[in-house]
Amino acid sequence: MSKASILAPANIAVIKYWGARDLDRTIPCNSSISMTLKECRSHTTVEVRPAGEADQIFLALDSGLEPAPLAFRDRAIGHLQQIRQAMGAKASFRVATRNSFPSASGMASSASGFSALAMAATQALGTPMSLRELSVLARLSGSGSASRSVYGGWVEWSAEEKDGAAIPLYDAAHFPLVDAVAIVESGAKEISSLEGHRRAIASPHFERRLELLPHRLQQVRQALDDRDIHALGRVMEEEAIELHLIAMSSKPPVFYWQPATIAVHRTVWALREEGFAAYFTMDAGANVHVLCPPEEASDVAIRLGQVEGVEKVIVDRTGDGPMPSAEHLL
Ligand code: DP6
Repeated sequence: MSKASILAPANIAVIKYWGARDLDRTIPCNSSISMTLKECRSHTTVEVRPAGEADQIFLALDSGLEPAPLAFRDRAIGHLQQIRQAMGAKASFRVATRNSFPSASGMASSASGFSALAMAATQALGTPMSLRELSVLARLSGSGSASRSVYGGWVEWSAEEKDGAAIPLYDAAHFPLVDAVAIVESGAKEISSLEGHRRAIASPHFERRLELLPHRLQQVRQALDDRDIHALGRVMEEEAIELHLIAMSSKPPVFYWQPATIAVHRTVWALREEGFAAYFTMDAGANVHVLCPPEEASDVAIRLGQVEGVEKVIVDRTGDGPMPSAEHLL
């Protein structure tokens, strides 16, 4: 049976996808822009099986293969179903996957996991697809951020594209940065992004955010073009705080911050007073991603690690995007 393995990275958004026009088809209310990471990635093998067999999903642990937890299994099988439908394929699949980052590290794994699944499945079926088509397929998993993880460097998922595909803006070499992630909460978050998107539109600030975003997106594109960390960072922090303002004012509210989240914000501001070009952003969780130039990474990581409540710091950087792997997990 034919099989294929893919290594696909996570990404960190500087302009966030938050709120959907159509949550079932993962059509966002607004465009988002992200940086693809290098080391935090999913390694996924898909084996094509005869039609009619049940799909099987495994986690590849050091101790061997183990059936995936139910919720993850159902979501992965749902995505395989979308892939079968989109490609008119009749096959079944066996899948094994593992993440380079510990699963309880507090790093989101759906963007890397679902982009890896879409890419490995189509490759195992022997159907060559463009990255644009793969971006659309990854998005159909329900994890919108997965649409951005099929490319390296800096990526925009525009709300204007008819097919809902993300597009690459700049490759990693154009503007490489470090992402030092201060982990203040390592378990799974209580409220999923999916639920966050659902509640967001009830925030009285949501419409205003949509009015502000076109200008903010343009500022980010310009900052990336100019390789200007300060211009990027200012907008990125404003954006991250606003995402959480929307979450906190949703109905019912979604409150992700922990005391250590704020302590990290203050540390980043103190670092800037000292002359570091470090700026923060956050996903839907309590952890804080701090972007800075590579030459400042070790100092910034040490300082973040000293903040009370920070469990560990994961240091990653801009990456080149997914790649095939010769190592099959099945
Ligand atoms: C706050 O619906 O893509 O990270 O599947 O959990 O990754 P996951 O969520 P998704 O929403 C992402 C929400 C976000 C912002 C972003 O990455 O754009």
